Amino acid sequence: MNIDYTKPHEWKIIEEGFNKEHVTASESIFSLGNGMMGQRANFEEYYSGDTLQGSYIGGIYYPDKTRVGWWKNGYPEYFAKVLNAPNWIGIGLKINGKVLDLNTCKIIDFYRELDMKNGVLTRSFVVEFNDGDMAKIHATRFLSLILQEIGAIKYSVAPINFQGEIEFAPYLDAGIVNQDANYDEFFWKILDKKEGQDEAYILSKTLKTGFSVSTGMKIELLLNDAVVKIQNETESTEKSITYKYKTKVNIGDTISLVKYGGYVQSMNHPEGELFNMSRQVLNKAVEMGFDNLLEKQNKSWAKIWDTADITISGDVKAQQAIRFNIFQLNQTYSGEDSRLNIGPKGFTGEKYGGSTYWDTEAYCIPFYMSTKDKNVAKNLLIYRYNQLDKAIENAEKLGFKKGAALYPMVTMNGEECHNEWEITFEEIHRNGAIVYAIYNYVNYTGDVDYIASHGMEVIIAIARFWSQRATFSKDKNQFVILGVTGPNEYENNVNNNWYTNYLAKWCLEYALENLELLKDKYPENYKQIILKTNLETEEITKWTEVSSQMYFPYSKKFDVYLQQDGFLDKELIPVSKLPKSERPINQKWSWDRILRSPYIKQADVLQGFYFFENLFDDQTLEKHFDFYEPLTVHESSLSPCVHSILASKIDRNEKAYEMYLRTSRLDLDDYNNEVHEGLHITSMAGTWLSIVQGFGGMRNFGGKLSFNPKIPKNWKSYSFKIKYRDHTIKVFKNHEGCKFYNESDTPINISVSGKEITIFDQDLVIT
Ligand code: BGC
Repeated sequence: MNIDYTKPHEWKIIEEGFNKEHVTASESIFSLGNGMMGQRANFEEYYSGDTLQGSYIGGIYYPDKTRVGWWKNGYPEYFAKVLNAPNWIGIGLKINGKVLDLNTCKIIDFYRELDMKNGVLTRSFVVEFNDGDMAKIHATRFLSLILQEIGAIKYSVAPINFQGEIEFAPYLDAGIVNQDANYDEFFWKILDKKEGQDEAYILSKTLKTGFSVSTGMKIELLLNDAVVKIQNETESTEKSITYKYKTKVNIGDTISLVKYGGYVQSMNHPEGELFNMSRQVLNKAVEMGFDNLLEKQNKSWAKIWDTADITISGDVKAQQAIRFNIFQLNQTYSGEDSRLNIGPKGFTGEKYGGSTYWDTEAYCIPFYMSTKDKNVAKNLLIYRYNQLDKAIENAEKLGFKKGAALYPMVTMNGEECHNEWEITFEEIHRNGAIVYAIYNYVNYTGDVDYIASHGMEVIIAIARFWSQRATFSKDKNQFVILGVTGPNEYENNVNNNWYTNYLAKWCLEYALENLELLKDKYPENYKQIILKTNLETEEITKWTEVSSQMYFPYSKKFDVYLQQDGFLDKELIPVSKLPKSERPINQKWSWDRILRSPYIKQADVLQGFYFFENLFDDQTLEKHFDFYEPLTVHESSLSPCVHSILASKIDRNEKAYEMYLRTSRLDLDDYNNEVHEGLHITSMAGTWLSIVQGFGGMRNFGGKLSFNPKIPKNWKSYSFKIKYRDHTIKVFKNHEGCKFYNESDTPINISVSGKEITIFDQDLVIT
């Protein structure tokens, strides 16, 4: 654990006292987002210290030319970067001619707060200049959920001990670069600028990808909360527009600048109308006014929290942490737009530049599926459906034939944009997660139509991939899958990664099963799909062969499936025997030492047991858990959650809790010493899973919802809600028992710790 400077609070993240060393970490932790755009919690005013400036717009990326030491055929030409977008939040401040800069000024009573109830970020402090002038600053900022193209800032200054001049300098700056640019290129071209009375716009376009964005701002000034007009001076450069407002203030006055700003972009509007649209949406914001927008913001978030909230009583830090995770997931993805997805760092940093990883399918979908309307999860599936052609092209590039698809490891627009051979070419298990997500969605929502309308095409293309990727081993008389990287990226180019082989077999069987289903229940769709995909009988025969004759590495001695061929040749020394000083191994050891070691980055075999828990008994799970968990270093944020869920399942309650703490406060306590780069958004869904599927024991196998609630020793109680088909069910658990409340108008049968119960409409059942 590295830092833990924020204060525990049920609904808020609070930082008290200014510490320059925390600035970049806080920029991540206090990030704001509204699904369409997001930004790190950069200060509005000038800051000369260490900072990572970051504003991002959903879907807008740049294909940065690949940089690798040794080019390999099949590599993508570029790595897609989430693009750092023009800055609209900036407000320079001068007090009697002196620049406010938290890096150089004396700062007293610094207080920063992110209210997760309504997504509002506030900051207040007193600044004291060398000549003794003191002023109180207060800033409030949010990104609107009802007008998703804008955000609003109210920035107030109150002189404490002087009369004099305040100069506000709100600006737009389109001269923004990505810190992680491969060749230090500037990714934007400025097309046009417009200045008006208290409003300004910059139209810029991304190079190569050609996304156009109008970044706008509109300013209002208030003296003691009454609107005042102040004539501004304009300072315009090639890439920026700054307005300067100067005014005299007295002790006791508060002068505020309200800045509405944001982006209107060409994914949603014709390029020629961007200035106009930008203006329209800002006018609308001004018309509604800051307080009114804020009130609407409260209401929108209240609606989200109504189903998404998890309460934990008896442990404030745990309560704060789970809300932080849920809050960030909602800031990142709101689910209306199937062109958007959930980047591992969301809108909070540049690392993992690509937008979409298997994280979405393996971890995030269940969260959105249970806390939002089913269309949200469906949109995430459609995102991949719409990229099927690109996945087929990607597979063709690697030598696969006849409509086989390999979905990318990292993507923005469907093209692969990751370029480390061990991952790009070998971490093919991601393809299985795409099918697993379809299964998960259909199983949970009951929306079988999805298979007929979209899913089957994807399933067929992926089944084709697996049947071509598997090799028949004459020696083993079975099918093998050679040269892969499993979820455990601390092993590369291994043969027969159990998880990958199992997933491949399962995908093929799922494809066969669904072909039968369509033939029987959706004959018209079946015919169309066979025609469209040109699926032939020999292929289907091959799928049966490969799936029924798949090889799985297994150890008789330990009675466990082996992570890969040869795993037992390693020195199996448990992680607990490693000196603390050598961890995390990815920061302390050479790569070759990691590869030779038995240490596991994240759930691998156990990821398979998590996905397919219903296909194994508890004893088998226990044996595998006891074999692999002690060798696992959990150096991926995606690891602890899966282990927490499995540990709960087999009653390893202490372990489950230990793993839960690690996933839930990963960023707040900066376990991996990297929060300054951004938050781990996708693993936050894993935190949610650790409560709902872990402690709550929620499962949904065979169309039946079941729970097996347990509670960590030091919690008094917890509760969560899930949407399940036409029902919303609230689950409450304390040390005496549990309560289930059916908020819907129709009864539902569920199973609780193995007992069948019916909860009638609007009814409460206590067990
Ligand atoms: C993990 C991958 C994951 C990626 C993005 C890596 O560290 O090993 O499984 O997809 O991070 O979250």
